[in-house]
Amino acid sequence: MVNVIGLGYIGLPTALMLAAHGVEVVGTDYNPSLVDTLRSGRTTFQEEGLEELFAQAVAAGITFTTEYCVTDTYIVSVPTPYDPDSKKIDPKYVVSAVSTVLGICPKGATVVVESTVSPGTMDKFLRPLLAQFGREDVQLAHAPERIIPGNMLYELRCNNRTIGADSPEVAARIRDIYASFCQGEIVLTDIRTAEMTKVVENTFRDINIAYANELAKICRADGMDVYEIIRIANKHPRVNILQPGPGVGGHCISVDPWFLVGDYPGLANIILAARKINDSMPEFVLERVHSIMRELGMKDVSRVGFYGLTYKENVDDVRSSPTLQMLESMERHLCGDLVQVYDPYITYDMVANQHHSLDSFLEAVDLVVLLVGHDEIRQNMHRLSGKVILDTRNICSLPGTYKL
Ligand SMILES: NC(=O)c1ccc[n+]([C@@H]2O[C@H](COP(=O)([O-])OP(=O)(O)OC[C@H]3O[C@@H](n4cnc5c(N)ncnc54)[C@H](O)[C@@H]3O)[C@@H](O)[C@H]2O)c1
Repeated sequence: MVNVIGLGYIGLPTALMLAAHGVEVVGTDYNPSLVDTLRSGRTTFQEEGLEELFAQAVAAGITFTTEYCVTDTYIVSVPTPYDPDSKKIDPKYVVSAVSTVLGICPKGATVVVESTVSPGTMDKFLRPLLAQFGREDVQLAHAPERIIPGNMLYELRCNNRTIGADSPEVAARIRDIYASFCQGEIVLTDIRTAEMTKVVENTFRDINIAYANELAKICRADGMDVYEIIRIANKHPRVNILQPGPGVGGHCISVDPWFLVGDYPGLANIILAARKINDSMPEFVLERVHSIMRELGMKDVSRVGFYGLTYKENVDDVRSSPTLQMLESMERHLCGDLVQVYDPYITYDMVANQHHSLDSFLEAVDLVVLLVGHDEIRQNMHRLSGKVILDTRNICSLPGTYKL
């Protein structure tokens, strides 16, 4: 039996996928209200296909609890933030979860950490727990997750995976568990390599996004069309520049590169620059809003609307979203509660002046800042005609639309 610890955006789909493919699974989360929701037959976030998978997993016998189970295999999928001062990983959640496991697990159990961790975390923070708890019999492994919200279930099945372990035997045993649903290649390696590989992947994305964002700033400074330039440059056989945007959010790309900055100061220079560029984008968008308002003589900030609160399209995850960063910045200037805000995926009240329908949002605004490319707005773009539009995602082709 596998006990999946942490039933958030990553742990829940993993637990369900395992259960739906014949593995006996108990899902554990220390948040009682989350467990109550799952027990009552409801999923805890929106993701295509999740409800169907949930039903399959429940039919196959998955159960949910706040308690840790006594079993031979644990998969730990708890948050791994960075410390805002040192920029190093803050391992408190993963240390706490593994400590609880070590207090109850039987001899020879395996603890698989799925959470993304900085290279060396397992040796520095988790391996010493084995000695501390007198549990040198327990095996550690690392199986970092690569899936993207919005396409999670497809990617769980089809992505390649990496599994790091101390011995080929442990790695092969964990591979067999994931192979119950994973059709991609499962690469077996050591723990340190698996840790570094995952962080390197997300850092690669961050740096490439930063390049596009920096180009947007350069082109804006000199009146050039960054999208046209990227479109033409990408016709080169070895060039593939990403699209600029309002910033980077979520629990991965805006977090993991900091681990390298924190652990390798003086060496992680491009990585640090990329983080700073991407973190500067919400402020850059606000400056664009101000300059457009000045140009058009618009004075009333309460007629400005931010479309989208999530960090990417068609998901309900708002963690570190560019829109929230913009609202925080405006709050620091005492005008955070002036703009109108709407996101079809956020149905609860989260920020001031939040609308719960596109109709009411559009009625309240003259200037729409498109911050997230949800399908809803792509399908209703014609309804923005007559508005002033700042399109930070390059999704609107209405005449007169302002771009980044
Ligand atoms: N969200 C993503 O897109 C994504 C993608 C790939 C990898 N990851 C990585 O996966 C890990 C988990 O991220 P997430 O987005 O699922 O986080 P999350 O915040 O959505 O979920 C974590 C869950 O763990 C629970 N939890 C925390 N400590 C616990 C403990 N000691 N015992 C039991 N439950 C505990 C929390 O209540 C929460 O429900 C992170 O390391 C993240 O970097 C996330």
